[in-house]
Amino acid sequence: MSSEHAPTSPAYDPARIRHAHFRSLVTDPADAATHIRDGDTVAISGFASAGTPKAFAPALADRIRAVRAGGGTMAVNLLTGASVANECEQILAEVDGIALRMPYQSEPTARRKINAGEMDYVDVHLSHVAQQVWMGYYGDVDVAVVEVAAVTEDGRLVPAMSVGNNKTWLEVADKVILEVNSWVPLGVEGMHDVYYGTALPPSRRPIQLTRADERIGQEYLEVDPAKVVAVVPTDQRDSESSLTEPDAVSQAIAGHVLDFFAHEVKRGRLPADSLLPLQAGIGNVANAVLAGLDAGPYSDLTCYSEVIQDSMLRLIKEGKVAHASATALALSAAGLSELVENFDLYKKHVTLRPQEISNHPELVRRLGAIAMNGMLEADVYGNVNSTHIGGTRIMNGIGGSGDFTRNGYVSMFLSPSTAKGGTVSSIVPMVPHVDHTEHDVQVIVTEHGLADLRKTSPRKRSRLVVESCADPAFRPLLHDYLDRAEARPDAGNTPHILEEAFSFHTRLAETGTMLG
Ligand code: COA
Repeated sequence: MSSEHAPTSPAYDPARIRHAHFRSLVTDPADAATHIRDGDTVAISGFASAGTPKAFAPALADRIRAVRAGGGTMAVNLLTGASVANECEQILAEVDGIALRMPYQSEPTARRKINAGEMDYVDVHLSHVAQQVWMGYYGDVDVAVVEVAAVTEDGRLVPAMSVGNNKTWLEVADKVILEVNSWVPLGVEGMHDVYYGTALPPSRRPIQLTRADERIGQEYLEVDPAKVVAVVPTDQRDSESSLTEPDAVSQAIAGHVLDFFAHEVKRGRLPADSLLPLQAGIGNVANAVLAGLDAGPYSDLTCYSEVIQDSMLRLIKEGKVAHASATALALSAAGLSELVENFDLYKKHVTLRPQEISNHPELVRRLGAIAMNGMLEADVYGNVNSTHIGGTRIMNGIGGSGDFTRNGYVSMFLSPSTAKGGTVSSIVPMVPHVDHTEHDVQVIVTEHGLADLRKTSPRKRSRLVVESCADPAFRPLLHDYLDRAEARPDAGNTPHILEEAFSFHTRLAETGTMLG
């Protein structure tokens, strides 16, 4: 409708939309939202705090309210790269606009709705999403809404601060809405490596990536211009990830991880200067571990991960990290400013790829990534719960942790030894929900120490986990459990008292504390 809107929108910048056909589609967010209908499957850009469409969610929420005010119904199935900017998820969850959500979320309103049974949530390994959508597991994708930095003269798209599943969304969607965000520095052009060689079995070929800094794709995303129904100019910062300065607990965890690396180097299992490509999950602990590498003796580190956080920028600037490959930049306010001010430097050392490549099992295994992820809790035998508090209430989702844990060269889980002000132990007899099994988890780290589970039988492993990782206040309770489990005539290879295994959690539910 409104190409007249374009020149009046302060966000409109013709230098960002260099193709006449795309310029003719410039419109406002409300008009773009009319392309979305009740029951549609809508796939949007965004990975962690980066690259979420800025105008889409408020406009769709308005449309949902208007349709309902007229007596109609309106909700969509929402597919993303991973979590998206909180404001996007929140605004749609608040109007009950999301019927089904996939593959990852981390926003409190959406979480509440999911746990109340009011929103369906399908929690999927991030590397699997593109393939599953291609296979049609989620039906047709009706509309893709993708933020880009610019449209080139020949109609290709300059990706913004994340790639995520955007390549797939643009390929599979019936209709495409583009948001062209003038805030994204044009310097981002060239930072991406979009691989177009993936295919479905039986036509799949090996992916020829052998180093974190290699490029195997192209700098731009492609879109069929005939599918584009609206182009919306925006001019808004990415939301910021909330990182805090490393505290004593996360620094202690980082210290144990660094000692472990030194030990592995001494044993000849990791290269002395460069280790192997690092993968670090999102959040403060991962950020602190990377920050700790600053003090280590390494000079040629690489990263093959999902997101790039603040500490990675610092390591690049100091020459400790030679190259970082990921699918998104998830930075704090300070990190974003640092990136924007020194784009030329970071562009030389950072590659952003589609998440089916950043998390690809073939590549994670080939490169030998060192997987370091957060967890809610681990049990004494090494099974890990990353997603469900008390075994029933979703926190976020598995994200990419499974992609890296199962396929990494070494797979580590890092967590404070307690939660909720010290009242809940992160080491329990049996996790009530399993995301990562004992077969995949090789190392558990808390502020008290590191348990290397490799080459340990379950009976030895359990005592090692308690002694190395559990908070001292919970150790007697855990040892008592193990003593009694091992004394049973049917103790077996993995001793448990099944009728009692979850009493940690029962006591938590009854008293609000495990210690009370
Ligand atoms: N029992 C009960 N609650 C627990 C808990 C436990 N054992 N451990 C943590 N929590 C609660 C915390 O109290 C906090 O609750 P709050 O938000 O009400 O304060 C919440 O869980 C998050 O804990 P926090 O200590 O802030 O952890 P985090 O930010 O390091 O996140 C995970 C930990 C597990 C939630 C996070 O790593 C995650 O979502 N992982 C799965 C996805 C993933 O690994 N992605 C990266 C792959 S690249």
